[in-house]
Amino acid sequence: MTRLTPQPEDRFSFGLWTVGWQARDPFGDATRGPLDPVEAVHRLAEAGAYGVTFHDDDLIPFESDEPARDKAIAAFRAALDQTGLIVPMATTNLFTHPVFKDGAFTANDRGIRRYALRKVMRNIDLAAELGARTYVFWGGREGCESDAAKDVRVALDRYKEAVDTLCAYVRDRGYDLRFALEPKPNEPRGDMFLPTVGHGLAFIERLEHPEMVGLNPEVGHEQMAGLNMVHAAAQALWAGKLFHIDLNGQHGPKYDQDLVFGHGDLKSAFFLVDLLEHGGYDGPRHFDYKPLRTEDASGVWASAAANMRTYLLLRERARAFRADPEVREAMTAAGVDDLAVPTLAPGESYADLAGDDFDLDAAAERGYGYERLDQLAVEHILGAR
Ligand code: GCO
Ligand code: MN
Ligand code: MN
Repeated sequence: MTRLTPQPEDRFSFGLWTVGWQARDPFGDATRGPLDPVEAVHRLAEAGAYGVTFHDDDLIPFESDEPARDKAIAAFRAALDQTGLIVPMATTNLFTHPVFKDGAFTANDRGIRRYALRKVMRNIDLAAELGARTYVFWGGREGCESDAAKDVRVALDRYKEAVDTLCAYVRDRGYDLRFALEPKPNEPRGDMFLPTVGHGLAFIERLEHPEMVGLNPEVGHEQMAGLNMVHAAAQALWAGKLFHIDLNGQHGPKYDQDLVFGHGDLKSAFFLVDLLEHGGYDGPRHFDYKPLRTEDASGVWASAAANMRTYLLLRERARAFRADPEVREAMTAAGVDDLAVPTLAPGESYADLAGDDFDLDAAAERGYGYERLDQLAVEHILGAR
């Protein structure tokens, strides 16, 4: 039986900034009022989510005084206690205030870089207190519009310095917290540093504590770069770096649409769920989307439910796909399993390659049957099988 009602064991989480988005865009004012984080926690719990995530400023208005800060945190904590919702991840807003217009970790102004680190450390303390295990860095303003504005090599030195400094902070404090970099190619900056999963993976290897740092890939961000999100997530998994994931929908390379998961490239969403469910990812299924600007509060909650229901439907479809004997047979015929056989047998070296009895013409003529396999996937997605 397919279960389509979300349960905490599904590990669905949402950012406060998603359901709370007031739908202000570059061309128009807000179409919805503010959403109290306490209400968000209750509604998310009722909807079947297990977790809620936040930027410091989502919970505590920017530069609040101490009593206001304490009050906001206490109310949030009480809501978590009442509902059983957890905070799997937290992050910092280093992009809204004008002070960050030239970046935070990579701002040319050194005072701003130091201010940004203080802002992050402060919220890391709160994240750890609330039990978060992952801390995300999305470098919203880390980038430039003119290549005369930054020496990218130097900017990457500063980016590395910031992440190394924050790793040292977490280690010294003894927090059980890992960092996840969230790549994005552009928007709001013309070009952003660490634009894709591949760039992020290469960057991590040059850090002082690469084991503490992984990735938070977002569906739409890879697709904005014209890349295949399933491949990006798979390579992150292969590298042991898929620490977290932002699920949403996007129609190809254009502005960041942040649609409901599956409401963009549905076929890619199917293969992504298949990968997450069968590829050993056990982290949160975090939705980072924006309810359409046309929606009122009921539309917002319908969209939150839609993310989870679509995921569960795709999970069921992926299971059916994997269990279908015809799919199995088509995969075998296509040689999908053969790719898992090492090219050299144990003990062999390049010298052993010489002796193969290889029929070049037969190998070149072989058909793989990928068309049949792909159509079987489409039929499963459409519920035709
Ligand atoms: C975006 C990003 C953000 C981040 C968030 C967490 O494109 O706006 O996806 O939503 O995920 O700031 O760091
Ligand atoms: Mn996005
Ligand atoms: Mn995101």
